[in-house]
Amino acid sequence: RGAPRFRMSVRSSAISVAPMLTKLQEDCATPLPVLRHVADSMSDDIRAGLAVEGGSDLKMILSYVDSLPTGNEKGLFYALDLGGTNFRVLRVQLGGKEERVIDTEFEQVSIPQELMFATSEELFDFIASVLANFAQREGGKFHLPPGRKREIGFTFSFPVKQTSIDSGILMKWTKGFAVSGTPGKDVVACLNEAMDRKGLDMRVSALVNDTVGTLAGARYWDDDVLVAVILGTGTNACYVERMDAIPKLQGQFSPSDRTIVNLEWGAFSKGLPLTVFDRDMDAASINPGEQIFEKTISGMYLGEIARRALLNMAEEGALFGDNVPKKLSTPFLLGTPHLSTMQQDSTYDLQTVGSILYDVAGIDSDLNSRKIVLEVCDTFVKRAGRLAGAGIVGILQKIEEDTKGTVFGKRTVVAMDGGLYERYPQYRQYLTEAVTELLGPEKSQNVVIEHSKDGSGIGAALLAATNSKYDHNY
Ligand code: GLC
Repeated sequence: RGAPRFRMSVRSSAISVAPMLTKLQEDCATPLPVLRHVADSMSDDIRAGLAVEGGSDLKMILSYVDSLPTGNEKGLFYALDLGGTNFRVLRVQLGGKEERVIDTEFEQVSIPQELMFATSEELFDFIASVLANFAQREGGKFHLPPGRKREIGFTFSFPVKQTSIDSGILMKWTKGFAVSGTPGKDVVACLNEAMDRKGLDMRVSALVNDTVGTLAGARYWDDDVLVAVILGTGTNACYVERMDAIPKLQGQFSPSDRTIVNLEWGAFSKGLPLTVFDRDMDAASINPGEQIFEKTISGMYLGEIARRALLNMAEEGALFGDNVPKKLSTPFLLGTPHLSTMQQDSTYDLQTVGSILYDVAGIDSDLNSRKIVLEVCDTFVKRAGRLAGAGIVGILQKIEEDTKGTVFGKRTVVAMDGGLYERYPQYRQYLTEAVTELLGPEKSQNVVIEHSKDGSGIGAALLAATNSKYDHNY
């Protein structure tokens, strides 16, 4: 198996394709002024979104999370995590300050493709049945005080207009989901109805976005966490904001002076260097014109943008010789994990690149074309990582402008999660470089980007505990 070593090709791909590559790299370039413009626009959009509802591309959703975990949380809690490629259920046993997380058990299932286009009832029935099976396996290990239901932290990673800590209305689907009947509905009510149908007597105490769960989970261990970012199938960020810096609250503060705000930064769109491939992909998507930042920097789309560019080079620049590989016309044929695996190839003849091209797309490639494929991947990944870095700086500088010294004058942690960040070293590197370039050596020393793996599940369980309906953790 793998790519044949020799290919009889008359045309040398590298020559005709070279100018196309140069043009692509120019179109995707993110020099410092571009990054700065993106960071500044992000700050401006944050302010505008906090000022009035609908004030900018950023929805700046109030999470109703105004008390963060303290470490004192105790008891048995569940978490559900729906948001991308996988669905997870967790059981967490919290032991208070001394013992912290005594035990966690979890189960992960990939979301069947057809469920992404199913009806709301079908999707929530699926969630409830995975939960029911998982809860059944608790096996009488835990006894709750009489009258007390098992409580759930529900991480639901789509734009939800929260109406309280335990309710919220789905505004729209993102990340390729097109389940009918959910937008406009309270997703906790949808889950409750499905649990009823399954005879499951549990209660959602906290409904949170994955960014919010990640922030809570990371903050449990580290008081310096101020921002959380997800870079996975989709992308988003949230941060801790002062209530009095949120004009759209119109003075309706809760007893706390701070709260978490979910940017929904996937919808950001200003100053991004986009190519014809981005525009075509957007036009062909199920949500054209929406989630432009997400489509430029997140895992669901990077492979697809690269595929479109490679197809164009094959058609117009004979990248793979005289024939255009047929399979390369299949949308979403290349996944971001393919790009990452190819970019880790350190063999002298780029064997791994060759095998992936062959196995995935049926392409016979020579060393020159493999090199160009890598350059194309790198071009989009560099743009994505650097823009993500600029977005993070945009948030940090907004907070710093309001409260001088609170961000760059001390240690500040950005909690990060998501498969893209976790499994794409080049992406991580580009992101970090952009942050350092923008902030300069001194300020960037105080900014720590920390991988908080699977923090959002535990975070949601912690928020279920913090917001428990029952008086005492037990
Ligand atoms: C999408 C969702 C958002 C989520 C992000 C990361 O952008 O709209 O709510 O946080 O993906 O999963």
